Order: sequence, then structure tokens, then C-alpha cells
Amino acid sequence: MNVLGLMSGTSADGVDLVLVRLEGRPPELRWELLERRSVTYPEGLFAQVRQAQQNRVLGPRDLALLHHDLGRFYAEAAAPFRGRAELAALAGQTVWHEPPGLTWQLGEPSWLAEALGAPVVHDFRPADLAAGGEGAPLVPYPDLLLYGEEGVRRSIHNLGGISNITYLPGREAESVLAFDTGPGNCLIDEAAARMGERYDAGGQIAAEGRVDEELVEVWFNHAYLRRPPPKSTGREVWRLERLAFAGRLEGADLVATVTAFTVRTIVAAYRDFVLPLGLDEVWVSGGGVRNRTLMAGLRAGLPVPVRAFDEVGRDPLAREALAFAVLGYLRHLELPNVLPHTTGARLAAVAGRVTRPAVDGT
Ligand SMILES: Nc1ncnc2c1ncn2[C@@H]1O[C@H](COP(=O)(O)OP(=O)(O)O)[C@@H](O)[C@H]1O
Ligand SMILES: [Mg+2]
Repeated sequence: MNVLGLMSGTSADGVDLVLVRLEGRPPELRWELLERRSVTYPEGLFAQVRQAQQNRVLGPRDLALLHHDLGRFYAEAAAPFRGRAELAALAGQTVWHEPPGLTWQLGEPSWLAEALGAPVVHDFRPADLAAGGEGAPLVPYPDLLLYGEEGVRRSIHNLGGISNITYLPGREAESVLAFDTGPGNCLIDEAAARMGERYDAGGQIAAEGRVDEELVEVWFNHAYLRRPPPKSTGREVWRLERLAFAGRLEGADLVATVTAFTVRTIVAAYRDFVLPLGLDEVWVSGGGVRNRTLMAGLRAGLPVPVRAFDEVGRDPLAREALAFAVLGYLRHLELPNVLPHTTGARLAAVAGRVTRPAVDGT
């Protein structure tokens, strides 16, 4: 089956789409990545999503408009895949994630179903919430099926807005450990935005700034960083205005300091929760692989090889959309698609709702 996966991360940079050929069923899933494309949100949509993420006052009309505008945007981005995708899996745009009990993704799927003439699986998170989980992370099971390898203890690390780990010590579902370490690019993006940039391209600004080690130390006292997995977090938590004394820094020094802090939180997460279990290598996906300062910090801080997805012949921007394609495929087969011990749920959800395109006649 050819499945189209659509992923919008918390960075609100746009949508990544992958077309993947999937065959078989777990544990023997065969897959071939056929195509990936990324489409950036236009400025207006980006600004609206940011407002929602910051809990600014948006009335019912604003939210309805955002929900449908996102849905129409996804439909337009997916139009080139019409006739090739038999099923789509839409992650939607997270505008709020506050477990337990609260998570919300926008983007009306009916527009996409109509544009593709194919069913769309969407709203993957609520079923897991209702089963007692955090509704995240959902990628660990697809990660296991796609990247788990007998005899290799590998961490699949995503540097999106939030940073997360899927630790795969082999092919057993029970042995998978997955959690959000804390900020990925989100603080860096926010600091870069103060300099008029959407992000710190190549990590160049951070490389030119001076790190305020004292502030890194202060911020590092955050309670989330001590909490053992399973745990997930959102960009609501990781904002400059919530970091003590961040106001005393500006420009490149602020970017450099939040970058160093981000590195520190990730390295500590490995030290506290992953290295004791045994680790052979880290594969890094997400837009953060393009930040050379961030990657250099991780390479310096971790005692195992840290490889960007590109370096192992894979596409760093395809990883999460691919994972959602697998979630949608499993939902289509009516199979459980969540590893409950990674979300904290009591049971494994068959997550995702299905929206079908309109048909000819009744
Ligand atoms: N050339 C680049 N240099 C540095 N950072 C980049 C670059 N390209 C993308 N990024 C970072 O990656 C982020 C998007 O990554 P992505 O994996 O899509 O995250 P998310 O899943 O949160 O949307 C951007 O917000 C930016 O911080
Ligand atoms: Mg993105």
C-alpha cells in the first residue's frame, strides 16, 4: 500500500510529506521511501499557529479559521500525490500539549481526503490520552519497526522544536525507551527570532556568541530534566520568558547560551537515563541536524558516535512523517499502533480516526 504521511512539528515551520510503500504487518514490515517534500507555512499561517501556541486570545472564529486554513494548506501540499497515495496519515499541527489529559492538533482532514480522493487517518493522540497515556511520543513503535536491529543498541534522536529519544536496544517492544529530553530547536528559534531570523542557520549565530555558563547552570535546575521517563513536554514550557534572567542577554550571546543549554539538557538525559542501559550509537533526525553548533556540542558531550540521518543514508526530514505513515497503515489494518509503556498508557491504543472522501451518489 502506498501511504502518504504528513507531519507538522512544534516548530510550526510547515509540513513534511513522505510517500512510502508499506507491505506486511508487524513484526515483518517492509518499506520503501518513494518521495519526500517539505512545504513551508506562509507567514500568516505561521503567525497564527505561533499565537495559538502562546495561548494568545483567539476567538472561536480565529480558531475555526486556523483549523480549516491548515486543512486546506495540507490538501494543497498533498495535491501532487493524488492518484499515488491510497491512504494518508495526518499528524496535524499541535497547538497545545499539556499532559495528562490535554493535547490538541489542528488541521481539518476533510480537505485532504477530498484532495487525494483517499481516506485520511488523523487525530492519533486522544485515544492514548484516554487510555491513561500522555498522547506522546507516538513515533517509538514505527521507529522500532523501521530501525530496530538485533545486536545494536541504537538511539534514534529527533531534533525538532522539542528533542526526543527513541532508544532501541534490539527488536523487542518491551525494551524500547522513549521520552522528550526537553528543548530541541525551540529556544534557539525564539532567540534567533529576536534577531529577525526564523532560525539560526547552520548554527552560525551561536558560534559567534559568548555562552553565559552561569545562566546555563541556573536553567539546568528545571524539574522536568530530573523526572525519569516516560515523560513528554511541549514548547509552552520551553520559552525564553520562562527562563530566569534570560533578559540580561541579547543577540548572538542569547542564541549561544540557549544552544549550550539545549546541548546540556540532551547530554544529561543520555547520562542519566540511557547510557546506564548500554548504547552503541545515536542517529539524529530533524531540522536540528543542520545546526552545526548544536551537533558539535552533542558529539563533544556523548561518548558514542553521533551520526546525522544523512550520514547513514537516510533523510533527516522524512523520519517523523514516515513514522506517521506507519501509524496510519497500522490503524488501517486495525492493529494497535502505540507502545503503551512509552506513553504511560494502561493499554495499547489503535490510535487514529478515519475521514473518507465524498462519493458519487448515495
Ligand atoms: N539550515 C538550518 N540551520 C539550523 N537549523 C535549522 C536549519 N533548517 C532547519 N533548522 C531547524 O529545524 C527546525 C525545524 O525542524 P523540524 O524537524 O521540522 O522540527 P519540528 O518537527 O518541530 O517541525 C527549524 O525550526 C530550525 O530550528
Ligand atoms: Mg517541521
